[in-house]
Amino acid sequence: MNDTALFDELAQLAARQIGLRIPDGAHDRFVGILRERTAHLCYASLKDYQTFLAGRQATAEWEELARIFTCGETFFFRDHGQIDLLRLRLLPELIAQHRNDKTLRLWSAGCASGEEVYSLAMLVDMLLPKRDGWNILILGTDIDSEAIARAQRGRYGQWSFRMVPAELQQRYFHLEDKEWILDERIRRMVTFRVVNLVGEPFPDLASELHDMDLILCRNVFIYFNPAAVHAVAAKFAATLREGSYLLTAHTELIGHPVRELESRLFVEGVVYQRASYQPVVARPVSPAALSVATEVWRAPPVARPSVSLTAKVPPAAVQVTSLAPLPVALNDEVLLKESRAHADRGEFGLAEQICHKALAVNPLAAAPYFLLAQLAQVKADLNQAKECLNKAIYLDSHFVAAYLELAALYERTDDMPRAQTLRRAALGIVRGMPNNVVIEQYEMTAGDLTQWLTQWTSEPTEDTSKSDPKKLKS
Ligand SMILES: C[S@@+](CC[C@H](N)C(=O)[O-])C[C@H]1O[C@@H](n2cnc3c(N)ncnc32)[C@H](O)[C@@H]1O
Repeated sequence: MNDTALFDELAQLAARQIGLRIPDGAHDRFVGILRERTAHLCYASLKDYQTFLAGRQATAEWEELARIFTCGETFFFRDHGQIDLLRLRLLPELIAQHRNDKTLRLWSAGCASGEEVYSLAMLVDMLLPKRDGWNILILGTDIDSEAIARAQRGRYGQWSFRMVPAELQQRYFHLEDKEWILDERIRRMVTFRVVNLVGEPFPDLASELHDMDLILCRNVFIYFNPAAVHAVAAKFAATLREGSYLLTAHTELIGHPVRELESRLFVEGVVYQRASYQPVVARPVSPAALSVATEVWRAPPVARPSVSLTAKVPPAAVQVTSLAPLPVALNDEVLLKESRAHADRGEFGLAEQICHKALAVNPLAAAPYFLLAQLAQVKADLNQAKECLNKAIYLDSHFVAAYLELAALYERTDDMPRAQTLRRAALGIVRGMPNNVVIEQYEMTAGDLTQWLTQWTSEPTEDTSKSDPKKLKS
């Protein structure tokens, strides 16, 4: 057999076993490494090594090859945008959905040394500090058993915290001999297992791999060939409960539509939702009602075929070329509602125009600036978004959501001190509100938001009435 034929066979074998994609130009490296492994394991020839790899005794060797060909690079709270999505939107939504059955099943697939899955556990701890009676699975899996063993130790060097605010690090870790040791409480929240996503069958009722509410699989598909991406994504879809979520790193599933998964596009990236979702509480979704910056439903009709995934924010969706005639509107609130409706449909240019109309009618209205800020984020214009949020706060100094959105923007640009100052200001405002007042943009009560912000800003709870419902009415 000539070299090219052998290479093709080995490449196909690697694709079938661990999903490996050999990038253009990496042919020589691939073969070089396999030759090294042939010598290391004392096989007489590459062909003999191939025969061994095709057999049943090669699981550990495939793990070794996955370790060699992929990189285990990871750190805590790695992607600020997705972390915001999780802590402000997806996890609170899942927690609310499961308040009655009190189960939550989260899976970080390809978790490497555990930073991602522990970040998830810390978010759950912040959002659901009292978990009595809850049955929560937070699962971390990886093909690499050495990485899983490191993850189970829960000890990390400073480099794993390169994106983590110091307060958060100190809240959940303590330093011992130059290693940061994770709180036992958080460590115990997580279950670890070695799983080859390509080879292992799931969903599987006999293991933990079924009925997930959230699967996080970030920076793993980049190593997979298209067939493996598609096969694993389809298995993920079948492993999710209806209405639950799959998060990948940006663009990792673009071009791999899976019939059961609908894509929801946020400024921070795409989230995939298992179809046939019956919302617990039917409520309108508008950009201004979202806790993270902006979301766009890509496929809202009732009967939906598979959603075709294209670019992250298709330029055509941002720039509206033909304008429908404006409806007759008498006041700024009507115009604002109209503007949100257009934004919900992805008609961002038109939404922006109508927002400006609303401001022309009432230049002192703060809400149109909030919506304009979200529309600016769709265009990735963070400066304009900040400017609009500052205007909203100037016009309404009690506009909690504007403080929090601005905080999130500063956090994304690594200005944590300013982000925290803004969150503390928001905390001051919600503390002054009755507990049961609903903060419209977050669909959360002032009491819940106070609790969340208190944890997030490490502020002690001063107002004891917040935890005592009897004192609410006064
Ligand atoms: C870059 S790390 C991602 C870590 C984490 N998800 C993050 O984004 O920070 C990629 C991980 O994918 C794992 N991996 C590669 N192929 C895999 C497979 N077939 N099954 C399961 N895990 C795999 C690697 O072992 C590695 O730990």
